Amino acid sequence: MRKPQIITISGAGSCRTPALIGTLMQMKERFPVRRIIFMDKDLSRFHKIEDYCRLLLKTYSPQTEIIVTDDLDQAYSHCDFVFCQMRVGQSRMRSLDEKIPLKYGLVGQETCGPGGFAYGMRSIGGMKEMVDCVRRHSDQTWILNYTNPAAIVGLALDRLYPEDQRIINMCDQPYSMMVSFAKILNVDPKKLRARYFGLNHFGWFTDLYDTQGNQYFDQLRDYLKNHDFRPYNAEQRTKSWLDTYLRVNRMLNCVPEYIPTTYLQYYFYSEEIVRESDPHFTRADETMQTREKEVWDLCAKAVGREELGDLPVLTSPVFGSMMVEVAESIAYDLNQEFIVMTRNRGLIDNFPSDAVVEVAGTLGSQGVKGIPYGSIKPFYKGLMENQYAYEELTCQAWMERDYTKALQALALNRTVNDFDKARAVLDDLMEANKEYWTLEKRDGSCI
Ligand code: G6P
Ligand code: MN
Repeated sequence: MRKPQIITISGAGSCRTPALIGTLMQMKERFPVRRIIFMDKDLSRFHKIEDYCRLLLKTYSPQTEIIVTDDLDQAYSHCDFVFCQMRVGQSRMRSLDEKIPLKYGLVGQETCGPGGFAYGMRSIGGMKEMVDCVRRHSDQTWILNYTNPAAIVGLALDRLYPEDQRIINMCDQPYSMMVSFAKILNVDPKKLRARYFGLNHFGWFTDLYDTQGNQYFDQLRDYLKNHDFRPYNAEQRTKSWLDTYLRVNRMLNCVPEYIPTTYLQYYFYSEEIVRESDPHFTRADETMQTREKEVWDLCAKAVGREELGDLPVLTSPVFGSMMVEVAESIAYDLNQEFIVMTRNRGLIDNFPSDAVVEVAGTLGSQGVKGIPYGSIKPFYKGLMENQYAYEELTCQAWMERDYTKALQALALNRTVNDFDKARAVLDDLMEANKEYWTLEKRDGSCI
C-alpha cells in the first residue's frame, strides 16, 4: 500500500471542501490519507459542512484522523501537503471585486481586470502568512496552491521564495478544457496530452495528441468551427459559464491557429461582457445561489447524524480530481503530465526568463518540470508581455505599497486602458479593501 499522507486543507470552510473530501474518498487507494487537518480562520463557515465531511470520512476511511483548527501553527506544523484554497475576504469581497469595476464600465471578474488586481492584493498577504508558517516548521511540506488569482499569487510567491521548489501553483481551467476536448473527441482524458503556452488564465492550446501519438488538434479545431463548445465540467453549466465557452468558438473563428483558454474572453470582448453584466448580480451571487446553497443544504441534512445513510457522496470530477491527482503524482513520484505554472527559465525561449508561465509539464518528487515550448509568435508575445508587466507591477505595488505602480498596473491591463478609469476604480477598490491592503502616494503622484 502507498504511504498514507497528512494533509491540511487551508480555507476548509469553502463550499468546495465536501466534494474534495468525497473525491479523496473515491481515490483513497491512490492517495491514502492518514490525517486531515481542516484549517480555516473563520471556523463558523467550516462548521456548516463539518458533520457531512466527518460522516464521509467515518464511512469510507474511518482510520483517518480529523483535526479542525483555526490556529496556524497547529494547521501547518506537521503535514505532508497543504491543499490551499483560501479566499481572503470570502464571497463578500469577491462580490465587490466584481461589482466595483462595473460601476466604471469595466469588466467585473474575480481574476481578470481590476477585480483580479484587488483579489490578488488580498491573496498575496494571506498566502505569505501561510507559507511563512509552513516553512517555520518544515522545508519538506508541499504547498499546492489553488488560491486565485493564481497568476498574481504564483508570481508573488516566486519572487518572495525564489529557491522554494515545493510551492506548486495550479489552475484547473486548462485541465477542465482538456476533459471537454476528450469528450468531444471521444478519447480517454487520461491519454490526452497538449502543447500549451501562456500565463495563467491567459493561455493557448497549440497541439493535442494522445499517448499513442494520434493527432487530434485539427479535428478539434474543425469541430469547434461548426459546433458550440460546451463544458463537460458539471460545475460550469450556469449561463455565465455557457456563454464563456461560446466565446472560445468566436475567438477561434477570428484567429483559428490556436485554441484560446476561456479567460481570454475578458480581454477580447471586454465591452460586450460589461454590457451583458448585471452590476447588481454577478458571478459571486450566482455561485452563492447555486453551488454554495446546494452544498450547504445538503450538509445541513448531515448535522447531528450518526451515519451517512442516504445522503449522496459529493465529488468533484474536475477540480477535486485534479487536486488529488497532482498530490498523488508528487507523493509517489509518478511524473504525470499536467498544465503547470513555473518560472520560465527559457521554456518559452523568446519570453523573459523570470516570468511565471503556464506550459505542459510533469509533477514528481522533484517538483515541477516544464516541457520546453520553443518560441511564440508576435501576436501572443505582445499580449503576454503586456499581461506579464501588469502582473509584475501588481506584485511590486503590493510589496512596496506603491500607489503609482498599482495605477500603472491597472492602466496597462487590457480590460482598463484608461488613466481616468484606472484611477477611479483603484481608489474605490482601495477603500473597499482597506482592512487588507493599502497603498501610499509618493512624489505627489495623482493629486
Ligand atoms: C475555473 C478557474 C478557477 C476559478 C473557477 C471559478 O475553474 O480555473 O481559477 O476559481 O473557475 O469558478 P466559479 O464557478 O466560482 O465562478
Ligand atoms: Mn484558475
